[in-house]
Amino acid sequence: MSFPHNRLSRLRSSEVLRNMIAENQLNLADLVQPVFVHYGDNVEREIGSMPGQYQFSIDRACEYIRRIYDVGVRSVLLFGIPEKKNSTGSDAMSDSGIIQQAVRAIKRAVPGMFVITDVCFCEYTDHGHCGVLTNSPGGMILDHEATCRNLAIQVLTHARAGADMVAPSGMIDGQILAIRQALDSNGYSNLPVMSYAAKYASAFYGPFRDAAQGAPSFGDRRSHQMDPRNSDEALREVQQDIEQGADIIMIKPGMPYLDIVRRVKDNFNIPIAVYNVSGEYAMVKAAAANGWLNEKQTVTEILTSFKRAGADIIITYHAADIADK
Ligand code: PBG
Repeated sequence: MSFPHNRLSRLRSSEVLRNMIAENQLNLADLVQPVFVHYGDNVEREIGSMPGQYQFSIDRACEYIRRIYDVGVRSVLLFGIPEKKNSTGSDAMSDSGIIQQAVRAIKRAVPGMFVITDVCFCEYTDHGHCGVLTNSPGGMILDHEATCRNLAIQVLTHARAGADMVAPSGMIDGQILAIRQALDSNGYSNLPVMSYAAKYASAFYGPFRDAAQGAPSFGDRRSHQMDPRNSDEALREVQQDIEQGADIIMIKPGMPYLDIVRRVKDNFNIPIAVYNVSGEYAMVKAAAANGWLNEKQTVTEILTSFKRAGADIIITYHAADIADK
């Protein structure tokens, strides 16, 4: 008997066997590319803190989405930057709002692309918060009930425009139930809801706030996004969203929260999405631009770590790049 050792870990000579016993595979089919849609025509503006990501007007967004479709990307997540913001974010509730027009145009231009819409108000309100504000003794706070009523309106405009899935991202109490009821009672009972169930109050959203121009003008989102110190709480949030009718559960950000992905995977039987957010993207891009990291190897390793942790869907700004190589 030879000295016991893990023979399978020493298979340097056999790529074939290594591939056969690999436990996880990264598939292009699992990736979702976020796209920022800006008002106007012929706009293609690179986002300073997110090299390789752009704000596109609808015409240019359609061209970009055609290009990434042709290299194999099959799903996009849309964010809108409206021309006018106001206290309720009314552009987000209009059938002729930026996102509603974009969905119609994209589904016409690239019918095979699966279009997911972000359902939230922070890019549409002049105060940059995720819904309707109300006065309280301690200052302005989010009115969760009024916001849920508006989310129900918003989501129906997305459904009418032809969205394939909606993704409520505000972590407003009761939002999944409000959205599910609105969809079901208006003939959209087959439209799936992907809930940002465990969304942490994170510094990693920094570059996104440049990209979507949705930074809160005062205060922060700690009243409704999760405390990074907690993980049992994430399981409670997930449970509630499943009970309210969520079809897919999202965890966000990705890399710093792989433990949450794994706990949700072990505790629930529901598809999991992970959002590899703007700050995670910016870090890799900055290091790669300096020659400090090999971009392709780093991105592959990061995206594979999401699969290993238990994610099904990966929302990542690297999707188009990975597909193109
Ligand atoms: C809210 C929303 C945010 C992100 C996705 N949806 C911003 C926030 O909560 O502050 C962040 C995504 C990223 O950082 O890439 N509509």
